[in-house]
Amino acid sequence: MCGIVGAVAQRNVQGILLEGLKRLEYRGYDSAGMAVLSSGRLQRCRALGKVAALEARLESEPLEGSCGIAHTRWATHGKPSEANAHPHHSGERLAVVHNGIIENHETLRDDLRDIGYEFESQTDTEVVAHLMDREYRKGDGLLVAARRVLAKLEGAYALAVMHADEPDVIIGARKGSPLVVGVGIDEAFLGSDPLALLQVTDRFIYLQEGDVVRLSKGGVIEVFDDNGQPVEYTVHTFEHGDGVASKGDYRHFMLKEIFEQPAVIAAALEGRLGEHSVLVESFGPEAEALFARVQQIHIVACGTSFHAGMVARYWLERYAGVPVQVEVASEYRYRAVVVPENTLFVTLSQSGETADTLAALRFAHEQGYLGSLAICNVPGSSLVRESDLTLMTQAGPEIGVASTKAFTTQLVGLMLLTLALGRVRGLSNDTQTELVSALRGLPRLVSQVLALDGGIEALSMAFAEKQHALFLGRGAHFPIALEGALKLKEISYIHAEAYPAGELKHGPLALVDSDMPVISVAPNNELLGKLKSNLQEVRARGGELFVFADESVGLDEEEGVRVLRLPHIHDALAPILYTIPLQLLSYHVAVLKGTDVDQPRNLAKSVTVE
Ligand code: G6P
Repeated sequence: MCGIVGAVAQRNVQGILLEGLKRLEYRGYDSAGMAVLSSGRLQRCRALGKVAALEARLESEPLEGSCGIAHTRWATHGKPSEANAHPHHSGERLAVVHNGIIENHETLRDDLRDIGYEFESQTDTEVVAHLMDREYRKGDGLLVAARRVLAKLEGAYALAVMHADEPDVIIGARKGSPLVVGVGIDEAFLGSDPLALLQVTDRFIYLQEGDVVRLSKGGVIEVFDDNGQPVEYTVHTFEHGDGVASKGDYRHFMLKEIFEQPAVIAAALEGRLGEHSVLVESFGPEAEALFARVQQIHIVACGTSFHAGMVARYWLERYAGVPVQVEVASEYRYRAVVVPENTLFVTLSQSGETADTLAALRFAHEQGYLGSLAICNVPGSSLVRESDLTLMTQAGPEIGVASTKAFTTQLVGLMLLTLALGRVRGLSNDTQTELVSALRGLPRLVSQVLALDGGIEALSMAFAEKQHALFLGRGAHFPIALEGALKLKEISYIHAEAYPAGELKHGPLALVDSDMPVISVAPNNELLGKLKSNLQEVRARGGELFVFADESVGLDEEEGVRVLRLPHIHDALAPILYTIPLQLLSYHVAVLKGTDVDQPRNLAKSVTVE
């Protein structure tokens, strides 16, 4: 995690770096800092807390210079503090910013201490700063020094370094964490992602694993591979316009992103539906041949994306008749996996940079899978580049740390996958037509649910004083209950758990009393009768029930039972629709509790460390 920005420009870089940090704050926000070179002198400013704290400090102590690096931190080694904030110095002339983890930092630190280096922080990054200093003193320049240091580092990282003796040079390196180069007019930039630099350029070089880059005055960009050989790079134009990092009229990015769902779901469907079926080529020209051979699917993801995978299992087994396994990436990657013949490996990720998911993909490439498919939201991300097939979710940049529109568009992508596989595996034309037509109607139904926001906000009042909550669902709505619980805990800090409703009497019922609100998703499907009995079990113990139900379901409000009615939807797509009220509920509870909705404590949007 952590965000990196760098600039070798024709102007003062403080503003460019600060704006870049604000756009990267989703990657971590416990402290921030900046170092700028001016007249052969290194100046640094750091602050504990969000980028706004650094901005305030820079107002009274501005930095001035045309070459600089900056960082927003998500603590891994050493608590959030000014001393642990980046950039880290070695002496007065060298500065480093770093994202990721240096696994062998302890051994390196001991060696450096033995030869007299003193440490001011508890970070692994300061080890890199001192190693750089030691190598630089050998007199072969910053690039050579960086290469020698990189050869000693174990772990996954991206970093940027500069030295007062090379006043218009930044060296960047990427191994396991993302780093892009922004191409300006006679200027060059570094960023953890393109969004950080869209205010100065829309042209980017996506560094590959092991690449080292030297940016120097006049916009000179030299890229070298991990053998030190110059690389001929391609410059890509970024397709999403700028303006994405604005909340518009919304109070929070999360709310804006929830309300964008009808539009982005429509975008996720655009060009991918034929009259009566899904266009299999939406997954790439090789998809048809590959899908025809699929006999099993393994889905791997983290966090919210994992929940999307869990929903997809119900769909893929029911409509495409393919056996599916779903697993969190951090478990999958360290397991002895048995891969049956003709298994498709599917990763789901908003960012395409989640360390565990990426490592799982690389591990899977060694396991004899039929092929890999990434369903992802960020074009050009590592996951997209390294997968055989890709489907972009088209949600547009998601800034709120708690994932909303990325999840529902992933679900749309997974339903497209279900229908594409169903098509090549003999799913009846009638069912295909029915589901394609239901997908077309989805954006409208999502808008109708969003119109219920006032009622959901009213429900949220009941949660303001609660410490715990229980979410129940059955079938494909069990993962939706999990996602509802995750949203609530992420942003309101209320302890929330989810259970398949049938498990209630095997333990969680013991927790139910008048202080434990129970939230249930109750679409009108074949499991409704069973779910209603489960809800009776809760009522009988004095639990307060909040039910999100199909408008046609015969569930009435009574004391202790609040019912929010949702428009009728095709059973298969109900998990997508029932996600929306749970997102809104968590949002309003968090606002009532006064938490930091877009940047909840201790979390980050893109988890690029293990
Ligand atoms: C973090 C984010 C979650 C996200 C998860 C997986 O924990 O806070 O919102 O679901 O990472 O991220 P990915 O980008 O791979 O979907």
